Amino acid sequence: MIKGIIFDLDGVITDTAKFHYKAWKRLASRLGIDIDEDFNEGLKGVSRMDSLKRILEHGNVLDKYSREDLEALAEDKNEDYKKLLEDLKKEDILDGIEDFINEIRYNNIKIGLASVSKNAPMILDKLGLIDKIDFIADPAKVEKGKPAPDIFIEAARGLGLDIKDTIGIEDARSGVDAMKACNMRSVGIGVDADLRLESTSQLSLDTLGILDK
Ligand code: BG6
Ligand code: MG
Repeated sequence: MIKGIIFDLDGVITDTAKFHYKAWKRLASRLGIDIDEDFNEGLKGVSRMDSLKRILEHGNVLDKYSREDLEALAEDKNEDYKKLLEDLKKEDILDGIEDFINEIRYNNIKIGLASVSKNAPMILDKLGLIDKIDFIADPAKVEKGKPAPDIFIEAARGLGLDIKDTIGIEDARSGVDAMKACNMRSVGIGVDADLRLESTSQLSLDTLGILDK
């Protein structure tokens, strides 16, 4: 029986992926590296530091930077990203998500968040959703980012649930792989998973019920 639904944030609850891309592209071009949307696809669900390393590797310059340089660059990107989020508001919640969250709560199913974003609480607050989430897994507490399963395991633990009683929702390949790695049932938005949907507007308990058959 489904007792908890665990959401990814970026690309599932709100479309912050475009802001991550903008901020990374600006930072990369400052360093003489060009990234395009295809490359950016591979950064979805990947932590801030791992994303930076992938960009520097892409430009063949990773070994030029010290640990301190990397920290400073990641911080620069985050400051830029946060500026892009300044006007984020309720209207930026993706289609159907708010109704779905209300339906889940009405049915006494718990809601968890398994995002590797350290900005997640601030983003949920701006969207007016923070009080509707029962547990936000803290990415600082888990050793490995997606595609490792750690953040989903931590979200289920925080909800007090067995993995087998939860379903996770993701938009990124790395996120679906993370769920598969801990045997969590998965819903993919625009990505293959146990159940693939093309849009968040298709999410409902009824649609997810087919996973139980
Ligand atoms: C994920 C995004 O949700 O969070 C990634 O898909 C991002 O693109 C990662 O790098 C970390 O986010 P933040 O906000 O901690 O830099
Ligand atoms: Mg995502």
